[in-house]
Amino acid sequence: MDPLHFLLQPPVFYPIIPYACTIFGGLRPGRMILIQGSVGTCATRFQIDFQCGCSTRPRSDVAFHFNPRFSSSDANIICNTLRKDHWLDELKFSGAPLRKGESFVLLFLFLTDKVKVSIGGQHFLDFTYRLPLKDVDAVGIYGDVTIKEISFLSSNPLKSVSADLQKTPLSKTFPMGLSECHAITVRGLVTVNPDELTLLLKSSDSIPFKLTANFQDQSLSYNSFIGQSWGQPQNVQTPFFLFYPERFFEILLLPEAGLFRLAINGTPVNDFRPPVFDLKSIEELQITGSAGLFAVQC
Ligand code: GAL
Repeated sequence: MDPLHFLLQPPVFYPIIPYACTIFGGLRPGRMILIQGSVGTCATRFQIDFQCGCSTRPRSDVAFHFNPRFSSSDANIICNTLRKDHWLDELKFSGAPLRKGESFVLLFLFLTDKVKVSIGGQHFLDFTYRLPLKDVDAVGIYGDVTIKEISFLSSNPLKSVSADLQKTPLSKTFPMGLSECHAITVRGLVTVNPDELTLLLKSSDSIPFKLTANFQDQSLSYNSFIGQSWGQPQNVQTPFFLFYPERFFEILLLPEAGLFRLAINGTPVNDFRPPVFDLKSIEELQITGSAGLFAVQC
């Protein structure tokens, strides 16, 4: 089965609100979106809109408007659909376990005819679609809320895709060596109990590039093995560890003269400059450790 059939979308961390992004491939029954964040301390409302596009003028239809509203005592959730710039009949769900200033975990599970929403792991509401699910291809978040992470999952990513994953260690050779701007993309899914994930570029007598994700101490580092010894590991500077069990990841590695540029899940991180290396002498890419791989493009 084509791996791109599955939701292969990196998570989004700390988006600036208001925020809207495309849902790769649109929504389909069985997909889930997990949103972790916290309600503003003086919040009156926020909303998560599952939209048909990201247009503001004319405003995109909103198949599912999920709108917690806060009064002094409790939180109500208003759900509705916006069609051709008009709100349909709204539904109100009282007593939501969401509180001003507190963090939350929301899980939206999209089924054939309805979406099920759980808050903090407890089922809270169902909303029957009034617009076709297949038209929904964007999520927008607005209002008094801070979002830590949005992750895009298929119902059971491991079960549904494991047959399509290539196992590690995986090796690709470069008979002509590497050249500048020869981009390497690695997409994969971290295992359930990960230990370490490494990505190496090797020549016959050296390893000019090694990326290590260590799940034990949650560190991410570069190193190189040149002249018979390893150098000092160098931290990859990220605000938090970017790999999680059972989550997709995407690594983009771009060699240039004297350095390697790297982006993880679409976000550029600091470059790595090994003491010496010659791109043409690099003959192999090796990926080892706690992941299954969807695609390795060189
Ligand atoms: C309106 C409000 C909209 C939306 C809608 C849902 O009163 O202005 O932002 O929440 O209710 O029915």
